[in-house]
Amino acid sequence: MGRSARFMAVLVGLLLLVSACLADGETTTVPPQQAHPELWITVALLLLFMVAGVCGLLLFLRFRRAHTCLKNVDDHNVTMLKVPNGDDPTYGGIFDEFCTSGSGTGLPYLVQRTMARQISLVECVGKGRYGEVWRGTWMGESVAVKIFSSRDEQSWFRETEIYNTVQLRHDNILGFIASDMTSKNSSTQLWLVTHFHEMGSLYDFLQYSSLEPESCLKMCLSMACGLVHLHTEIVSSQGKPAIAHRDLKSRNILVKRNGQCCIADLGLAVIHSQFNDFLDVGHNPRVGTKRYMAPEVLDESIRMDVFESYKQTDIWALGLVFWEISRRTIINGIVEEYRPPFFDLVPSDPSYEEMKKVVCVDQQRPRLHNRLHSHPIMSSIVKIMKECWFQNPPARLTALRVKKTLSKHDHDSDFSINKLKQDI
Ligand code: ADE
Repeated sequence: MGRSARFMAVLVGLLLLVSACLADGETTTVPPQQAHPELWITVALLLLFMVAGVCGLLLFLRFRRAHTCLKNVDDHNVTMLKVPNGDDPTYGGIFDEFCTSGSGTGLPYLVQRTMARQISLVECVGKGRYGEVWRGTWMGESVAVKIFSSRDEQSWFRETEIYNTVQLRHDNILGFIASDMTSKNSSTQLWLVTHFHEMGSLYDFLQYSSLEPESCLKMCLSMACGLVHLHTEIVSSQGKPAIAHRDLKSRNILVKRNGQCCIADLGLAVIHSQFNDFLDVGHNPRVGTKRYMAPEVLDESIRMDVFESYKQTDIWALGLVFWEISRRTIINGIVEEYRPPFFDLVPSDPSYEEMKKVVCVDQQRPRLHNRLHSHPIMSSIVKIMKECWFQNPPARLTALRVKKTLSKHDHDSDFSINKLKQDI
């Protein structure tokens, strides 16, 4: 029985007891001269008020905390939950309530399920082989709901597993809210509920936006920060294993209102702990996106038993994403149209063979426009890109090196050198 049910039971029990006493007083067989009925009634009323007061106070204290988290969605006067600092939403502090204790990895499963089932789907904002992404509302606030296609259930399992077992709260990693599995007309529906970012994916954003070099730097640096957090193992009670993403691309990066980005889609990620000496590559038959595959993945020379290999493939893809952003960056009034990596060398939806010929055999790299060399920030990003694209995987930069180099250009933002020192 729950605590509140026990309170109610005690309250009801005491009230029954008091009323039984009162009733007993009325039917007593004691001679009238010994009964003192007015004294009995006074004592009983005092007792009743005391019990009701104490129970009322306890119930008030108990429900006041829960009320701020889980208001009834049917209540149309529900107060809009606040988004502090115009950055990530907190969903009424529900994570503070649950996540600062225990493993600290997320909400309990039952709470996740309850939340997911209170969501109203509003509009479809994305569709692909993976399934669909919807904007939904929970307690008046927008959430993103990714509905996985049945053939991609392994990605749902993997992402759910990682978000529920690894402490991944970071400004540049998509914020997880809940996972839910339901049965509908004998088919299984798999939902992943996350923070909603109204500006959508980086791929969508770059189609219609061009950038100043400072904004390009902010995006690239925020991605590097997210990747450093993923790639780094933290050994402590609130620590985390190292994670490699394996499908980094502009469609898997979201743009936030503050101009930073966050990394999404952990469905293919691999986990490594030096501390526990284990490498978990998961059981997903899915492979990464061919256009973004590193040469060693395309020619199958990658050492799949070595975790570092996966981080090196992420760095290759990170360089390609930087290239996509740099094309849309205005320098001396010049900007290029959005194009995906290798757009001039392979057709859309390229085969392995087509990619392998370009990347492994001919060892071609995306072309870099001359204007990029004339700006200090952009020439630094060009140098980074080239060092993300070395044929020899161990020669590539690490995410931490990318982050440190970009931070040197960033004097007046959240990523100032002091913050960087804290993170190391
Ligand atoms: N598209 C895919 N995921 C999204 C999210 N979390 N917010 C907004 N658009 C998205």
